[in-house]
Amino acid sequence: MSINKLLEDNPSFHSWDSGEIANFGVSDKVVKYIYSKLKSGFSTIETGSGKSTFAFLTAGCNHIAISPNELEEERIRKYCQENNIESKFKFICGSSTEELPHLINEINHFDLIFIDGAHRYPFAEIDYHYTEKKLRVGGYLVLDDVHLPSVRNLFLFLKKEKNWELETIIDHTAFFIKIAEEVIIDDWQNQGINKNFKKFESLKHYIKLTIKRFLRIQ
Ligand SMILES: C[S@@+](CC[C@H](N)C(=O)[O-])C[C@H]1O[C@@H](n2cnc3c(N)ncnc32)[C@H](O)[C@@H]1O
Repeated sequence: MSINKLLEDNPSFHSWDSGEIANFGVSDKVVKYIYSKLKSGFSTIETGSGKSTFAFLTAGCNHIAISPNELEEERIRKYCQENNIESKFKFICGSSTEELPHLINEINHFDLIFIDGAHRYPFAEIDYHYTEKKLRVGGYLVLDDVHLPSVRNLFLFLKKEKNWELETIIDHTAFFIKIAEEVIIDDWQNQGINKNFKKFESLKHYIKLTIKRFLRIQ
């Protein structure tokens, strides 16, 4: 089955807390862009599941989806059965924050990570923390809904990091490439978000010293 057929069908895999069926899927453009970055045999993971899961299935990735809603797995596998799609992926039913700390030890590497699970703070950051160390250099970190205040901090942090390159943003979904492993120097000192703070602190120190010296001379 082609990605286009899935996007035309636009099936609903999610539910509101009331149980009513819903479709929280990313846009067609995002599904297609993720798909364009995948190769058969890639090791991939997404927090959350749904329409995006089909980009990975269609591309033939070794894919893991984590979501606490078992009905999503049921609906995805049913849609696969009805459309002759091989539903060869691992669905982990649980919260990413509980599952990732254990799962990650079994993982050799990821080629692409898609963070689109719980959007309340600090879930995206926890998902990032556990997965990014296993992302190979050259791999993609895809972060959805970067306009949300609860996700935006992570987006702004990554934009300032030397080892991440923002390739593009499509419909609030950011595509970062890991261009190098993180180099940690003295804990927080090398992180881009702290750069201006360091400069400002040095300037403050210099001004204080100058004022003190000036006052002593008077
Ligand atoms: C915006 S939807 C994902 C949409 C999906 N990427 C798509 O294109 O259809 C958010 C997903 O996060 C899942 N979710 C909610 N809380 C979660 C948690 N604590 N851990 C992992 N996934 C969670 C929801 O069940 C849902 O699948």
